[in-house]
Amino acid sequence: MKDGKHLTLGIETSCDETAIAVLADGKELLSNVISSQIEIHTVYGGVVPEIASRHHLNNIPFVFKQALDEAEVCLDDIDEIGVTAGPGLAGALLMGTAFAKGLALASGKPLVAVHHIQGHILANLIEHPELQPPFLALVVSGGHTHLVEVRGYDEFKVLGATRDDAVGEAYDKVARVLGLGYPGGPKIDALAKEGDPHAHEFKRVYLEKDSLDFSFSGTKTGVINYLHSEEQRGREVSRADVAASFQQAVVDVLVDKSMEAARLTGYKDLALAGGVACNSSLRHRMAAACRKKGVRLYIPSPVFCTDNGAMIAMAAFHKAREGRFSDLDLDVYPSLDMERELGKLSAGR
Ligand code: KG4
Ligand code: ZN
Repeated sequence: MKDGKHLTLGIETSCDETAIAVLADGKELLSNVISSQIEIHTVYGGVVPEIASRHHLNNIPFVFKQALDEAEVCLDDIDEIGVTAGPGLAGALLMGTAFAKGLALASGKPLVAVHHIQGHILANLIEHPELQPPFLALVVSGGHTHLVEVRGYDEFKVLGATRDDAVGEAYDKVARVLGLGYPGGPKIDALAKEGDPHAHEFKRVYLEKDSLDFSFSGTKTGVINYLHSEEQRGREVSRADVAASFQQAVVDVLVDKSMEAARLTGYKDLALAGGVACNSSLRHRMAAACRKKGVRLYIPSPVFCTDNGAMIAMAAFHKAREGRFSDLDLDVYPSLDMERELGKLSAGR
């Protein structure tokens, strides 16, 4: 039932989640279906791109049907079709965009191409409609670590980015060496609760004065070298202490740089985004730092931090309001550059 509401469909298939949501009037989530492939990829210790694509291909019609059924609407009721066009795995992105184009062609409804990271940031609006640009965002996902100035719903400026590993990537690599399996972030988060965060002083990299860029490969390598050298000496290590100390080092840098960004820009609203925003230590310590500095902190519920269709629907709703539709010749953009393209994605580019 449409009830005069403006309905946005959001389709996300950039990695290992097949996710589709229906959003009403840019604020009321009618459905948010997520089919995760995590268990399938766990066997391989990471996402296998071709397997991910095949599972999207198999799952997407059912995820779509369930999203419409739960929202109690049909395709004809939908006003625009939002889909992630990049960045992400090429084959995985192709599954979502090809499906979205089919829907657009069959229904005559407009297509909206969404930047995945833009979606992660705007996921904050699902539970916090009072949050309005401009504001500051810290994006921490498996592939991205960025401090972003959100100037408008479709206008983003990157203030700092990682020069090597993304935070989630560092978590996943350290977890692998600790023998915790994939995905590593949640496992380190859980194990760290049993360890001493001050047991080891792993490297914190701040780069040049006033730089809002990040670097996590030194911290990651320090942990891996420590584990190897202890192993060679035949010494037992407390994996919980290593997990807690690694997390402490990473969160120190994320909190300090975010507070520095707030100081330099003068923004009083900070939003977290991306899978690593699920991290309990980051959520807790960032909240404490923001309280101290008088900054309002927004963090989505965990289901809206990791990949989901609702965030794509939210971004698509705002792009549609500004008339930023895509044509049916829309391509996919696996390594979509954030500084240049974020929020400016449209057909033929
Ligand atoms: O945003 P996301 O779902 O996918 C990407 O766009 O990359 O983020 C996935 C990343 C993975 O690296 C995963 O290990 C990390 O988020 N992650 C966490 C936690 N939950 C997920 N990292 C640290 N602590 C967590 N609780
Ligand atoms: Zn993501």
